[in-house]
Amino acid sequence: MCGIIGLCYSSPRELGKLLYKGLLRLEYRGYDSAGIAVICERKLHVAKGKGMLRDLEEKLGFTKYTGSTGIGHTRWATHGAPSNINAHPHTDCSGVFAVVHNGIIENYDELKKRLIGRGHVFKSDTDTEVIVHLVEEYYRDTGDVYEAFKRAIRELRGTYAILMITSLEENKIFFAKKDSPLVVGVGDGYNVLASDIPAILDHTRRVVVLRDHWVGYATPSSVYVEDLATGKPVDYSAYIRLVEWSVEEASKGGYPFYMIKEIYEQPQALKSTIAGLKSSKELPLAVKAIVEANGRVFVTGAGTSYHAAEFYAIASSTLTGILAVPFIASEYEAYSESAREGDVLVAISQSGETMDVIKAVRKFKERGVRVLAVSNVVDSAIPRESHIALYTRAGPEIGVAATKTFLTQTLLLAWLIAGVAEYTGVLSRSEYSEVTSLLERAPRVAEISLERSEELARELSKSYASKSSMYYLSRHIGVPVAREGALKIKEIAYIHAEAYPAGESKHGPIALVESKFPVVFVAPGISLVEQAIKGNIEEMRARGAETVGVVCEGSPLKGLLDHVIEVSCPHWLLTPISHTPPLQLLAYYTATTKGLNPDRPRNLAKTVTVE
Ligand code: AGP
Repeated sequence: MCGIIGLCYSSPRELGKLLYKGLLRLEYRGYDSAGIAVICERKLHVAKGKGMLRDLEEKLGFTKYTGSTGIGHTRWATHGAPSNINAHPHTDCSGVFAVVHNGIIENYDELKKRLIGRGHVFKSDTDTEVIVHLVEEYYRDTGDVYEAFKRAIRELRGTYAILMITSLEENKIFFAKKDSPLVVGVGDGYNVLASDIPAILDHTRRVVVLRDHWVGYATPSSVYVEDLATGKPVDYSAYIRLVEWSVEEASKGGYPFYMIKEIYEQPQALKSTIAGLKSSKELPLAVKAIVEANGRVFVTGAGTSYHAAEFYAIASSTLTGILAVPFIASEYEAYSESAREGDVLVAISQSGETMDVIKAVRKFKERGVRVLAVSNVVDSAIPRESHIALYTRAGPEIGVAATKTFLTQTLLLAWLIAGVAEYTGVLSRSEYSEVTSLLERAPRVAEISLERSEELARELSKSYASKSSMYYLSRHIGVPVAREGALKIKEIAYIHAEAYPAGESKHGPIALVESKFPVVFVAPGISLVEQAIKGNIEEMRARGAETVGVVCEGSPLKGLLDHVIEVSCPHWLLTPISHTPPLQLLAYYTATTKGLNPDRPRNLAKTVTVE
């Protein structure tokens, strides 16, 4: 997730200062590098580099640039490591066009090959750079900047919010949007474009939220918009609305806390992750590495990422028959002894910086193990130290409680496992396509779960706020989800919660159950599992427990539970996607009902960089 901004005035001014201020407003979207481009008297100037915005300002002096039109970018790396060259804006061979982009161009590889064949010279490893060379290419053919821009956009597959300026037309910003956010701030004698409303609010409160497939250009006095899907002009003035949020409220998208914003961002985070998986060059390498392992795969992580590891282990043995040994990263000493050359370690960490995981990676590498990292932060320590790195595309997660990173991790892992199943012949080519097309439903599945659980989560939070202990029970692929639910309510609502495979109740934990003791069941849509959970619900009810169930649509368990949330279950591999959001909302509303700040739970840090 990157942040982009563009400003368009009719005459030169201290534009660098305005762009820099806008970028600071977008910093919360993540940053590992940043840059600006301005046009001043028909000349394009670019300043960009790797690092934090404030350090870059000291080094490059963004604020000293003057101009009438300019664009800026804070980068959260997806394709290509954070570096001076990979920072945006990107320019064409002739140095007249500059582009910033937020999103992923899935077909960049084929476009890049074609453009190189036509003599274009690429300076970066990014997917974005193809856009600016495409415009250059089409401008040669048409001599019309807007036409060239539209032709370039038509070639792109993937997600994008794009801004482009050119020294050929000094007072225009060209824009296009699909699946990545982009808003226009409508000013008086100027116009602003940005990824998000906070960067607009210093200039104007009149905002148009652009829709997918809209392309156009802004001048200081007007905005021209057309719908690329229909080819028809759009009357953007009909979409202007007045924003009343403060900058602080706006950076949380109008939500009171980052955690709830991030919970509701999950469908989008899944969409981006799918786009990344479809264009990933590392995924086939990861599949091959797992298949070629001596049949021995270890999988590790801490906290929520460990739950993703447990999901991987269960899903891998169920779908592919390849056994994976899950272990909590801090226990690496106990597992590394048996590791040997030819084994594979899957190391999961959203931040990529968790010390326990880093230690596990180093220890396993010493023993000749091939390491495959799964992270949300490009070029962070764990991917850097691993042999292969796969990335989720959840965008930065600011709330201490992991939410969207868990859903995207499990989707990526499910996709990886399906790939292994195809490679080993467990799934035929067509069965594999069938499974991945079901996995592609993840964004909608998460959306449905959120829609269906919001009300009950709010309602239940009123009584849960006074509880001191709870159980979260499941079986099979639901167990890591139950563990995740318990961790959420523990860390942000400070309620003691234990999760365990439901069959264990009789072996001890049921001794604690008395009238109104809350028990949350996670029931995946696997009929044998549902049948087994039925008995567990009954034994809890018999002791007076208050039962809540997250079940699949039409589940026979519905009638047995005190409270039910029915979710959509196209495939059991999507269980974390369908069953986790209700548990996140339950924890969130219980915390806020207790007056707690879910973004900053006591005693916890977002990234644990010590052992
Ligand atoms: C989850 O809500 C916690 N914040 C925590 O358990 C977290 O998942 C753990 O510290 C691992 O972090 P990582 O994914 O960045 O390695």
